[in-house]
Amino acid sequence: MTGRTPLTRRRLLGVAAAAGVVGGVAACTGLPVSGSGRPGPVAGLPFADPPERVARAGVLSGVLRATPGVDLAGAAGAGLGYDGVSPGPTLRLRPGDELALRLENGLDTPTNLHLHGLRVPPDPDGDDPFRMVGPGGTADYRIRVPRDHPAGTFWYHPHHHGTVADQVFAGLVGAIVVEGGPDLGTAEDHVLVVTDTTVGDDGRVAAAGPMDRVAGREGELVLVNGLRRPVLAGSPQRSQRWRLVNATCSRVFDVSLDGQDLVHVATDGVFLPRPVVRDRVRLAPGNRADVVVRPPDVPGDVDLLAADVDRGGMGGMGGTGTGGMGGMGTGGMGGTTGTGPVVLATLRVTGAAAPTPPPPAVLSAPVVPPGPPDRTRVLTLTAPMGGGGTGFGIDGRGFDPARDDLVVVPGTVEEWVVENPGTMLHPLHLHTWPMTVLDAAGSDGAVRDVVTVPAGGRVVLRVAFTGATGRTVLHCHVLDHEDAGMMATVRVGGAGTP
Ligand code: C2O
Ligand code: CU
Ligand code: CU
Repeated sequence: MTGRTPLTRRRLLGVAAAAGVVGGVAACTGLPVSGSGRPGPVAGLPFADPPERVARAGVLSGVLRATPGVDLAGAAGAGLGYDGVSPGPTLRLRPGDELALRLENGLDTPTNLHLHGLRVPPDPDGDDPFRMVGPGGTADYRIRVPRDHPAGTFWYHPHHHGTVADQVFAGLVGAIVVEGGPDLGTAEDHVLVVTDTTVGDDGRVAAAGPMDRVAGREGELVLVNGLRRPVLAGSPQRSQRWRLVNATCSRVFDVSLDGQDLVHVATDGVFLPRPVVRDRVRLAPGNRADVVVRPPDVPGDVDLLAADVDRGGMGGMGGTGTGGMGGMGTGGMGGTTGTGPVVLATLRVTGAAAPTPPPPAVLSAPVVPPGPPDRTRVLTLTAPMGGGGTGFGIDGRGFDPARDDLVVVPGTVEEWVVENPGTMLHPLHLHTWPMTVLDAAGSDGAVRDVVTVPAGGRVVLRVAFTGATGRTVLHCHVLDHEDAGMMATVRVGGAGTP
């Protein structure tokens, strides 16, 4: 919450366009996009956190307006946004606070609001993914964040089935920060919302083709807070907390800080038991990671990189997690992954050392998986490629909002064996109730709200259905797959519950 620039992102873009220079730093011109020769977004502008909406006296209230005509990737009016910006304002609140937001739909397609990762019930005026707010419509949301809610990084995005990928790809995303938690000793706290998009020759966000929809669309440009390769200022040894949000539709990437370690402190809004020093942190769509970055002892530039992970593709190329730079797999299907890691942002370290203390050795109580399970289920992710499926679904069925797929007894613990017989990985997301990974390649036993199920593999999860009841969804967070039907309903309690 320190180090915020007084200039808004909008104004910075305007200034940059006018002068070509910002803050004394020459801004380089972006690469042409779409082969049109039209200049891409300016790279190297100063980093800026998204604007903020902060809860006052326990309530975060007001209007959140989804509109077109928002500047995106440096293209004037190309995208969609909330309150005129993409990403939209960061919603900051504390456990026990209430969100009282009126969503106004200024789009020409239906939308709604989903609070990804928040452990709040899917009430009719709450986090209800079945709600539909038509063009020109409004909807009031009243959501109480439980007092015992984890403090961490969450996000919001639309969830109207069939338009989710289009709207997110065009910029309708925003971060949520639930404040609190251990003092990490950091001097600065930044939100880094990572999106990708493609702006076409007509200056609008490109539509996805049929192959994009099968593979999961990837944009030509990878942005941080709507900016291309922004420059974050730092001082030697003065550590910063970065809240990374993978708000892309499809990309799975490993984030690293060129040659430097990252201190990983939280996944999906939940503190790890202890800080973990890593050379990279993997984020599937929907995942968040909070890291502490300690700038080096000497001034200079350090790049924050994202290396695409191969998600697999059609025709038996199965494997995942090769750490490859992408290009294969999805690349041949309409994905547009480049040939090397993408620079997300640059940390520019200047001035004298200003050391801050390291994060505490213990961050949270160790994760104890809930259990023993009251019930075990096998769920099979169904995709057009492999697994005998004909379309995207779960257990061979495409999404039907009227059908109850999983009926769960409130207060029980379930164990889910999630099978993926196909050739592409799928990041599985469950609303409201967090998942504990029991057994998966590379698993650290962490609590997550998006769990990657490798191609040709399986994961075993435990879910405690406590703290909320209601009817909501689980789905693949490759948003094109969700829109194509890889989503099921889950009803916890209510009529007919055993
Ligand atoms: Cu981030 Cu059901 O979604
Ligand atoms: Cu969600
Ligand atoms: Cu999928």
